[in-house]
Amino acid sequence: MDDYEQWFERLERVPTLSQWVGDLRSQHRHWFSEDVRSDLVKWKNTLSQLPEVKDLGFSVDEGLLKFAPHEFVTEEALKAFHPWRKGPFQIGEHYVNTEWRSDWKWERVAENVNLKGKRILDIGCGNGYYLWRMLDAGAEWALGIDPYLPYVMQFKCMQHFAGRDDRAEILPIGVEALPRDAKSFDVVFSMGVLYHQKSPLEHLAHCRDLTEKGGEVILDTIVLPPHFSEVTDCLVPEGRYAKMKNVNFLPSVEMLKSWLRKLRFTSVEILDYSKTTLEEQRATDWMVFESLPDFLDPEDIDKTLEGYPAPWRVVLKVTV
Ligand SMILES: C[S@@+](CC[C@H](N)C(=O)[O-])C[C@H]1O[C@@H](n2cnc3c(N)ncnc32)[C@H](O)[C@@H]1O
Repeated sequence: MDDYEQWFERLERVPTLSQWVGDLRSQHRHWFSEDVRSDLVKWKNTLSQLPEVKDLGFSVDEGLLKFAPHEFVTEEALKAFHPWRKGPFQIGEHYVNTEWRSDWKWERVAENVNLKGKRILDIGCGNGYYLWRMLDAGAEWALGIDPYLPYVMQFKCMQHFAGRDDRAEILPIGVEALPRDAKSFDVVFSMGVLYHQKSPLEHLAHCRDLTEKGGEVILDTIVLPPHFSEVTDCLVPEGRYAKMKNVNFLPSVEMLKSWLRKLRFTSVEILDYSKTTLEEQRATDWMVFESLPDFLDPEDIDKTLEGYPAPWRVVLKVTV
């Protein structure tokens, strides 16, 4: 679980990252230390319940990410990793029907971005669903970061079935721990992260400064619906938004574009702008907590329970 040396060496070969790798090496023994993480014993036990498999690897079939197709895996062993939010997956004979149809988001992104031979950073990568899709799209390697241990453990579950593919990895850290001005990655993904940040400009500038000159940032975030079309439109929810405590701002698309211009991105392309549907985000047997249908006004699904506009999302490709 804790063997990151190969990755550290890979990142160290990028001159602008070598100092950061020094920091990572010194922190990394704490990432999976039982003294620091009280839930780690439980996770190690959960991982140890997965069957040994002969058939290592993964495949993608019409958006479905498949592991261990010829092996027997119990539903109980997989459900121990609940909540399954990003997917879907086929693991053994089980269709892991995740809360999100992440394959739909990926379809909207992938047809517009060339990832062949690219070195990728995915900020807030969740369980790493997209890392596998990036490899499948020809990336040289894909590094995810996400500080939430249960999602990292879902990735460990997939690594168990795929084998430790040395082209994809997750570091269990937050965006704050990334170097400031490394200009090291060909493509930086920030999907579903911006609206959780305290300062949007700070996060966007950080993404820009992590990307090589001429590279791309793929940004996906919640925005206001189309009738908020002014460059001055932005919602700052005072309490919760769609029951979430940590949504800090929802700009109009025009305001978001103005932030990107101010930060001197060289081009901004809208890949998608659409309302999040009840088919794309919903509770399932594999994610039994509340989901989008519970966050919207039952009398008017264009509004959240708090009376704000229901979520629309935009996906942008911006060039550095
Ligand atoms: C809404 S989810 C988006 C997941 C995925 N990128 C997607 O688009 O489907 C936000 C993710 O950001 C992660 N996250 C939260 N705080 C973070 C931080 N400070 N740095 C990086 N990721 C963070 C969460 O754990 C979660 O997995």
